[in-house]
Amino acid sequence: MPNPRRTFAIISHPDAGKTTLTEKLLLQGGAIHLAGEVKARGAARRARSDWMKIEQQRGISVTSSVMTFEKDGVTFNLLDTPGHEDFSEDTYRTLTAVDSAIMVIDAAKGIEPQTLKLFEVCRLRSVPIITFVNKVDREGRDPFETLDEVADKLALDVSPQMWPVGMGGLFEGLLDFRTGEIARPEGSSKEYLGTRDTAEIPGEYAEQIELAQVGYPELDLEAYRNGDMTPVYFGSALKNFGVEELIDAIARYAPPPRPQPAGDAQISPTRDEVTGFIFKVQANMDPNHRDRIAFMRQVSGTFKRGMKLTPSGLGKPIAVHSPILFFAQDREIADTAEPGDIIGIPNHGTLRVGDTLSEKNDVRFTGLPNFAPEILRRVQLRDPTKTKQLRKALDDLSEEGVIQVFYPVIGGSSIVGVVGQLQLDVLVSRLAAEYKVEAALEASPFATARWLKGPQEKLDEFERFNQGNLAHDRDGDLVFMAKSPWDVGYQQEKNPELTFSATKER
Ligand code: G4P
Repeated sequence: MPNPRRTFAIISHPDAGKTTLTEKLLLQGGAIHLAGEVKARGAARRARSDWMKIEQQRGISVTSSVMTFEKDGVTFNLLDTPGHEDFSEDTYRTLTAVDSAIMVIDAAKGIEPQTLKLFEVCRLRSVPIITFVNKVDREGRDPFETLDEVADKLALDVSPQMWPVGMGGLFEGLLDFRTGEIARPEGSSKEYLGTRDTAEIPGEYAEQIELAQVGYPELDLEAYRNGDMTPVYFGSALKNFGVEELIDAIARYAPPPRPQPAGDAQISPTRDEVTGFIFKVQANMDPNHRDRIAFMRQVSGTFKRGMKLTPSGLGKPIAVHSPILFFAQDREIADTAEPGDIIGIPNHGTLRVGDTLSEKNDVRFTGLPNFAPEILRRVQLRDPTKTKQLRKALDDLSEEGVIQVFYPVIGGSSIVGVVGQLQLDVLVSRLAAEYKVEAALEASPFATARWLKGPQEKLDEFERFNQGNLAHDRDGDLVFMAKSPWDVGYQQEKNPELTFSATKER
């Protein structure tokens, strides 16, 4: 029997401690499968060397996209949600490939803007969230304040599972409500090194803790898994507090691989045939190689190296000979992958974001959305004879998921939309390198876009009066180009029969 799987991501605002926590999770997990750290033999080495070769020769870094570790018979797949400058639609889409998420917040700062954005994407798909309040070794806010903020801002029920006994300079340890044990800081670094006890908690803290235990609801597994309640853990990634409890919580409470929507059907992980969907395509930065790695979230079946799968976009099967299997722990099964696992598939641009792969070509996963861009730019061609090439390039790149493209109802130049700045740089360099199109990106008057839906007559009417603010996307769907978020609200109020959607299902 293969290990149970837990496929999850960490959502946070930069600096909250995602990187530190990731390292600690991997360390705790013991078996770390990061580039160069796996000492594998035979099949496992082959599996690894395939992708290391790809990385070295072609300059594609895939190692940090998926991190797999094992603990107590559970396999954890941690998917990276790129942040900081790398923030892009990929960051959002990764959340469509996980079954749950850990939300890391800084004990002193609470919910920050990027956390909120990522949380909203989780909510869209009812992805259950475990909250980790990090940096309790520092002076932070009162834990009650943090819990109430999570409850208010995210409209979630909160259920604390731990409590810090003091914070900052007064930090004496971390109480686990489930076991009643207090993890203690040790030595000059005040780290957690494994010492726990059940000593009595001193006066004021005891009162606080009692209040916390009666003041919030107990963990309701169903409410958590529906995305209505979040269990809250406290800790310090830096000093190793709360990390063990967090892993334990993911194993204990986080959902196993979930069925995935395919039209009106739900494809269960227990289905025999292999199915999966592409949630991310990573292109090569080296213009001499057109290789891409498509990341497939496996939904069902047992994948075996060399297996033939049919991509929905292609119609004919491809043999997956050199998959990147991030799971390479058990040498016997290093050439296989299970539902919940991620497989990297090298290809030359045949696989696109949103594609389904299946053995029988009888499934189409739905619900992998596009997200409203947060940066919009007008594309200006340097050489006007290249209009056709530009259009082809923009269509290709939007299909690949690098950018979104909008063709204004009035006016000639196309508008591209992204959610992160880095995507624009990638766009310009790929236009030049791969399509030989020199283009510049100029400011556009628009700040965001919304997909329009509603009764046809209302849409027509809206179109008549708002031509200057309308565009069609690559599929010809009508999009409202807003000059500000306020503009969206205003139009929504004026046109209650229309919906202005920030996401679009592909
Ligand atoms: P990110 O990936 O979410 O951006 O955060 P990262 O882990 O890089 O952490 C941001 C900063 O916060 C780092 O400090 C890190 O050491 C610190 N940090 C993370 N977890 C904790 C914690 O539990 N307690 C305390 N006190 N600090 C924590 P830095 O000075 O910016 O970087 P570095 O020089 O320490 O690497």
